[in-house]
Amino acid sequence: RVAGPSGLVLFGVTGDLARKKLMPAVYDLANRGLLPPDFALVGVALPRREGEDFAGVLRKSVGEHARTPFHEEVWQRLARSMSFVQGDLEQDDVFEILAKELDRARGAHGNFAFYLSVPPALFPSVVRQLGRHGLARPPEGSWRRAVIEKPFGRDLESARELDSVVHGAFAPEQVFRIDHYLGKETVQNILALRFANQMFEPIWNRNHVDHVQITMAEEIGIGGRAGYYDGIGAARDVIQNHLLQLLALTAMEEPAAFEPGALVAEKVKVLNAVRLPADLSTGTVRGQYAAGRQGGEKVVGYLEEAGVRSGSRTDTYAAIKVGVDTRRWAGVPFYLRTGKRLGRRVTEVAVVFRRAPRSPFAPAATEELGQNAIVVRVQPDEGITVRFGSKAPGPTMDIRDVSMDFTYGTAFTESCPGAYERLVLDVLLGDAGLFPCTAEVERCWEILDPVERHWDAHGAPAPYAAGSWGPAEADELLARDGRSWRRP
Ligand code: BG6
Repeated sequence: RVAGPSGLVLFGVTGDLARKKLMPAVYDLANRGLLPPDFALVGVALPRREGEDFAGVLRKSVGEHARTPFHEEVWQRLARSMSFVQGDLEQDDVFEILAKELDRARGAHGNFAFYLSVPPALFPSVVRQLGRHGLARPPEGSWRRAVIEKPFGRDLESARELDSVVHGAFAPEQVFRIDHYLGKETVQNILALRFANQMFEPIWNRNHVDHVQITMAEEIGIGGRAGYYDGIGAARDVIQNHLLQLLALTAMEEPAAFEPGALVAEKVKVLNAVRLPADLSTGTVRGQYAAGRQGGEKVVGYLEEAGVRSGSRTDTYAAIKVGVDTRRWAGVPFYLRTGKRLGRRVTEVAVVFRRAPRSPFAPAATEELGQNAIVVRVQPDEGITVRFGSKAPGPTMDIRDVSMDFTYGTAFTESCPGAYERLVLDVLLGDAGLFPCTAEVERCWEILDPVERHWDAHGAPAPYAAGSWGPAEADELLARDGRSWRRP
């Protein structure tokens, strides 16, 4: 899987995402020999300081963020393939210059992917400009693709509007919507776990599963991202996409074949079966971090972060209970939670099983025993854990929880490619399997929109101390069901 002749046009090349994720991903691809010899990289950015050394900025960020070791000759080869276009993305001249750049990069054979790593407000104008300047239409025998970063809209209506703008310029098969969670090895492995094995699938249903917890906890605050995050919040930022995708992969039926059409069909089917609780006041919680301590350091609260509007009600924590109305899952709650400034960075999917229907052991023997669970450790300690009871050594029959762990680092010698590395390669190869389609994106907004409307109408988010595990209300949400959150 080496990309053929092609090029990447990176809009927003000096932005946060491009510097921390995309350029390091391109470098890693180059380092692994997965880019074509005449690869072309065209960076587009707003004019900043006079004479700014773009290549220098990117070299530094590649050095800091690439997953593979830095080799000067690989970087130099990549640097020779780069050119930059500066200007206001809402003006025509940028696109005229860009058109000339694309013509000059003959080695790409006219095959270009346009990656929109720009603020979402600019998506429509960039797409329209690409269309207007004829750049979306591939010359005979070549391809053009548009890669749209998330968030794809901020609700169902705006997502539909954006979709119609995008499809005004690009045909559906030219459009690649990013959800970088799908690029993660551990996320793709959910399907392998379920459908390449015999022993999990027979118990992966309401007869055996008590509930499912999907957690995406982050230690970081919003950093310098207030401009994007404030007014968007945790649920739109990651539940609408990453967490609902994790739910879809965990709950979907087996696809007839491992190919994009069949996968999408199953994901859409299960997302269509997702039901919100009747009472959103008891079935959802949103929170906002207050000042606290993290890693021994004092950190400020959300409202004190630079760029946040005073009195902002933006959620930095969200927990939502949903059901999946299928024969397999009826009655099994799926609890989704995410937050910034939580106790520890961890993303996991925990499938928690019912207790054994009876026990021959004395009640005291199983006092400390929890419920069996299969935990997909998405990150940072990538792997899978199975939790079950085992006799503790000694003269009495005491049964306690133990873990059986599979860990990538010890099981495989191959290193995990980064999520963006995988996705950029797939774009260049034209492989759409790991990119959400319109129906998925829209359905996920349809699930979230009533929750956002409810929150808008019902006061402020609950405060929680930075470094904690979120607001007390989130614990109460599970406690009402006689359950508790896992403390990973
Ligand atoms: C992004 C969100 O999609 O995912 C960020 O916009 C979040 O707010 C990030 O920090 C987390 O990504 P990862 O891969 O570090 O879990």
